[in-house]
Formats: sequence, structure tokens, C-alpha cells
Amino acid sequence: MTSDIEPNEELHTQIQYRLIEKLSESERRYRELVESLQEIVFQSNEKGQLTFLNYAWTEILGYNQEESLGKPIHDFLHPEDQTVFQNLLTQLSGHDLVDSMAPSNSKILPNRQELRFYNQTGEIVYLELSARWIKLSNLDPSKEGLSGSLIDITARKQAQMREREKAELAEITLQKLQQTQIQLIQTEKMSSLGQLVAGVAHELNNPINFIYANLVYAQQYTEDLLRLVQLYQQQYPNPTVEIQQIIKSIDLDFLQVDLNKLLRSMQVGTERIKNIVKSLRTFSRLDEAEIKAVNIHEGIDSSLMLLHQHLQPKEDYPAIQVIKKYGQLPLIECYPGQLNQVFMNILSNAIDALNRNNQKKTIEEINNDPSKITIHTALLDSDWVEISIKDNGPGITAGIKQRIFDPFFTTKPVGEGTGLGLSVSYQIVVVNHSGTIECISVVGKGAEFRITIPIKQITTHSP
Ligand SMILES: Nc1ncnc2c1ncn2[C@@H]1O[C@H](COP(=O)(O)OP(=O)(O)O)[C@@H](O)[C@H]1O
Ligand SMILES: [Mg+2]
Repeated sequence: MTSDIEPNEELHTQIQYRLIEKLSESERRYRELVESLQEIVFQSNEKGQLTFLNYAWTEILGYNQEESLGKPIHDFLHPEDQTVFQNLLTQLSGHDLVDSMAPSNSKILPNRQELRFYNQTGEIVYLELSARWIKLSNLDPSKEGLSGSLIDITARKQAQMREREKAELAEITLQKLQQTQIQLIQTEKMSSLGQLVAGVAHELNNPINFIYANLVYAQQYTEDLLRLVQLYQQQYPNPTVEIQQIIKSIDLDFLQVDLNKLLRSMQVGTERIKNIVKSLRTFSRLDEAEIKAVNIHEGIDSSLMLLHQHLQPKEDYPAIQVIKKYGQLPLIECYPGQLNQVFMNILSNAIDALNRNNQKKTIEEINNDPSKITIHTALLDSDWVEISIKDNGPGITAGIKQRIFDPFFTTKPVGEGTGLGLSVSYQIVVVNHSGTIECISVVGKGAEFRITIPIKQITTHSP
């Protein structure tokens, strides 16, 4: 019996030897292959401590292969990616595992993960991780860990970042260009509009003065003539048939009453045109192209004067109250015509907003909270003044507020709004006077436009 067993045992041991030889041979070949790979191949225990590394680790990151073993991968990562990696570990280790000999069943990281490592000289290296969770040893099934590869994608990342930077730069340049273009168009438009307005105002000035001055005589003469007609009627109460016919056909009684009314309204009309021409001249900057030290309260008052009509009570609506809280201000160096234009734009917007709001309210509601415009001025310090124009209208929603200074932005119906009032005001205050303009608004409570202007201008640019 024993002789039967012995050769068997010998054979058994021999097979075992051969197998071990083969195994260590293939393991050696495997190791050699892994060592020669360009990508990092690693294994770590479940805590993330490195248990295996190939030479690419040293090649890519510069750390010594042997010295790195035993250290947690964590230690080599950028702080922001440490948590990412920790989460991956937790995610992967949380599942039931299969034998490392059957890796297809082991838990695989669903996506490749980009991680930032520090190399030995402290620079960031972008590595792309692909990994799976495996059983590390067949002998001790409780030993689990991570097995994976890390590919150096730094060059690709850098190229991507350069591309992104280039795209961002192009975007910024484009935006700047567009802004410059809008401003150029705007300035051009306003200056040619200003010239046009000034020209028209100038051309209108003479004929309207002519009409205005002659209307006084026309009135005088017609009064005289009518007096004469009345005298004739008294002295000759029985005119001829021909005269009677004419009196009838021209309706003399009506004519006498109406002629007076007509002349009156012509006078009111020409006065209005004269005022408009005057304001056009003031507001087109040609009249005052120079910087002057002025009392800006006068400018505000003149704007209010021009808007007088719109502040009056109308049909069902009470007047818009204007509350002035003027502080003690020194003379302000500015382009006065331009600043007046700003006051005018803001005040007329407030009037528009208040009127529109009233249309949505009952008379009772309007009387309980009558329309108000409060104008407040103050000296901020020795260099700056502040002018605030506030209304208790509907206010401005955040979405609209973002755009109110954009050229051509308007919420008013076609023909009523140009959308230029505030963009021009912005240009005048910020660009031409180095000041600031901001809008503060609570929806339902009203809107406030706050302007700050330096008391003295540094005269290096003209408007
Ligand atoms: N006081 C205000 N209350 C509410 N909305 C305002 C006020 N001032 C300006 N806005 C809003 O800002 C927009 C732009 O104003 P603006 O540039 O003067 O152009 P426009 O008056 O021609 O519409 C207005 O259409 C309006 O929606
Ligand atoms: Mg406006």
C-alpha cells in the first residue's frame, strides 16, 4: 500500500512545485508588465493606504515607490479632492464583494474620476482614476481594498483651461466692444440730437417771437374794430338790407364772442411754444457747453416749472405733491444744461409712474395715499453732493431694475417711451460728471433715484 502512495505523494509535490514555479513566473511577468506601464497601477487597503504601486508613480509624481507604500492616498491629494476620494471609498466599500479572481463581479467605480494630486515639487498633477473594490487576499477574505489605475491627464486639462481662458477673454472683449459701441452710438445720437434740437429751437425762436409780439396788436386791433362795429350798430340801428344779410351770414354776435376766445387761445398756445423753445435751448447742451459753477436747486426748480402742467390736478386725480427738502449746497461745477436734463428725465418718469399707478386705484385709495415726489439734496462731505428724487408710485421690480439704464429699454407703450431717459442720465452723471446714479425701489412703495456729483470737476474731458 505504502509503495502505492509514495510515488503519488511525490508526484503531488512535484506538481505543486511546478505550479508554484509557473505561478511565480506568471506573477513575475505580470509585475514586469505592470512596471513597464505608463499609467500608475496601485492597490490600497480599505483605509486607502497604498499596498502596491508601479514605477509610473515615481515617474509621474516623483515620489519614491517604496517610501510611498503604507501612506494613505489621501495625503497626496489636493484638499478639495480629499473628500471626493473619501466619498468614493465609502461608496465602493459599502457593497458586498466577490473574489478578486472574478474581477468582473467586483464593484467598479461607475465613472472615471478626475483627481488633483500634488507631485513631489508641490505642483498640481491631474490624474484620472479608474478603480474597483476587490478582495485583496484569498487567504483572508476580510481583507478588501481598492485596485486601480491613474492616468496623467495634466496636459489635456491644461489645454482645456487655456481654451476656456481664451473663450472667457473673447467673451469679455466682445462685451466691452458692445458697450463701447452702444456708448458711441449713444453719444453720437445724443450729440446730433442735441444739435438738431438746438437748431430747431433756434429756427423756431424768431417766428414764434414774431407771432407772439404781433398777437398783442392783433388783439388790440380786433378789440378796436369790434368796438367800432358796436358803435355803428348803436348809431345806425337800421342798416341796409345788404348789411343785414352779411350780419346774418357771418353770425356777427357769435363772431364777436368767439374771436376774443380764439385770440386768447392763440396767445396761450404761443406762450407754450415759447416756453418749449426756451426749454429746448436749455436742455440741448449747445447753450451751455462749458462747465459752470451753478446752483443746482435752480436747475431742479426750472425742471419742475416746465413740468408744472403735469403736476396739476386732473379730472378725478388730485395734484402731485412736490416736497422739497433742499440742503445747504455750495455752487456745483457742472454742465448745467445736461444736469437739468437728468432732473427732467427722472421727474417725468416719476410723474408717468404715479399717473399710471393712479389709473389702477380707486379715488379713495388715491386720496388716502396721494401721489408725492420728494426731492432731497445734501452735502455729503467737502467734495460731494447728493440729490435724491423719490416717488411713492408702483416701484420697480428687480427684473426691470436691472435694465432701466440700458439704452432703448422701456416698459411704456410704443410712442410713449423712448427708453433713453435713464441711459442718457446715466451717461451724463457717470461719464460726463464722474458721479454715480442708483435706483432704490420697493415694489408697491415707490422708487428713488439717488445721484451723487463731485462739487468740482477735473476738466480733462469734454462731454
Ligand atoms: N420712478 C419710476 N417708477 C417706476 N418705473 C420707472 C421709474 N423711472 C423709470 N422707470 C422704468 O424705467 C424705464 C426706463 O425709463 P427711461 O429710460 O426714462 O425710458 P422711458 O421713460 O422712455 O420708458 C421706464 O420705462 C420704466 O419702466
Ligand atoms: Mg423716461
